[in-house]
Amino acid sequence: MELSYKLQKLPTQFFASLVQKVNKAIAEGRDVINLGQGNPDRPTPTHIVKALQEAAADPDTHKYSLFRGMLELKQAVSNFYKREYNVDIDPNEEVAILGGAKVGLVELPLCVLNPGDYMLLPDPGYPDYLSGPVLADVHFDTMPLLEENDFLPDYNTLPDEVKKRAKLMYLNYPNNPTGATATLEFFNKTVQFAKEHDITVVHDFAYGALGFDGEKPVSFLQAEGAKEVGVEFYTLSKTYNMAGWRVAFAVGNRDIIEAINLLQDHLFCSLFPAVQQAAAYALNSDQSCVEELRSIYESRRNVLVEEARRIGWNVRAPKGSFFAWLPVPEGFTSQEFSDYLLDKADVAVASGNGFGEHGEGYIRVGLLVEEERLREAIRRIEALGIFQKEIAKVQK
Ligand SMILES: Cc1ncc(COP(=O)(O)O)c(C=O)c1O
Repeated sequence: MELSYKLQKLPTQFFASLVQKVNKAIAEGRDVINLGQGNPDRPTPTHIVKALQEAAADPDTHKYSLFRGMLELKQAVSNFYKREYNVDIDPNEEVAILGGAKVGLVELPLCVLNPGDYMLLPDPGYPDYLSGPVLADVHFDTMPLLEENDFLPDYNTLPDEVKKRAKLMYLNYPNNPTGATATLEFFNKTVQFAKEHDITVVHDFAYGALGFDGEKPVSFLQAEGAKEVGVEFYTLSKTYNMAGWRVAFAVGNRDIIEAINLLQDHLFCSLFPAVQQAAAYALNSDQSCVEELRSIYESRRNVLVEEARRIGWNVRAPKGSFFAWLPVPEGFTSQEFSDYLLDKADVAVASGNGFGEHGEGYIRVGLLVEEERLREAIRRIEALGIFQKEIAKVQK
């Protein structure tokens, strides 16, 4: 059977081949340290699991949900934004419940663009950003995220033609894959830029809870006028280790929220009510589990950065997310270096070019294993002797 042209055009999952290689190595009995993936390694906190168990035992939750989700969860979202970011959100008009941020990211181009329109995507960026444009039959231009700009896009350098045709833009801070964070000043500039060029902004705040060095990541909605131009996506996947539960939400501009809800009226019947109740409980209850998780990632980051620098690998410390974005040593492409690490050191990492053209020259390391495994990974890389050669070069 011939598939629709849209399905045929969907991007192939770049990391599927990495998963295959890792699985093959594991099947051969090799002790692979897998730093290539982005799946939280710790379980959902017990109090949230208990809330789900109790809710699931109530027959009322076995029925269809309201199409647009439960007010209890939307109210919890509104409380959460007020408490965490001092942002006012109308639970009825400014929240859309999503079955994962990924769903919203794919839906948005269908909601606000017409075939042939253009959108702007970060490069490097989360690979799933590429799916929505294909399904909506729209084109995209990219915004380079460069190290010298702290991995923030420089709107001044975008060609006039690109600025003129863009109708939608995706941003993501703390950033996957670079670990960079944004400032309020940058978001204020983004609102100005969006107004000037009539661009809708989607800020993907998937790693909103994960900021390091005492800096709480900034919400896009804290910027002056942000709600006039866009929405923010927030997921419970990372903040509460609930990736398998599939629960997230969009907040912000009410026209965009209405558009998402309208599309979803035709696609879903919201989420399992017990999951919605447990998610509301997670957002409303004691947040010490979030701080505990954040500090685990910060501590792992410190171990990785210290160990890498010890062996002469000149790495930048990520400021947030649970990823580190490390430069590839001279003489390797990203793909060659990732293959080399897997073949020679049984260390799996994600090759930077899988995140876009500007990801070349980097690899992404996930901080999703215990500290001892991170140390062991660096010891194995040290034994390859690559960075010692670099130090020797510098000393000469
Ligand atoms: C930047 C980014 N956005 C969104 C997601 C997906 O979030 P969700 O689990 O809510 O679909 C991920 C997951 O890895 C991510 O890295």
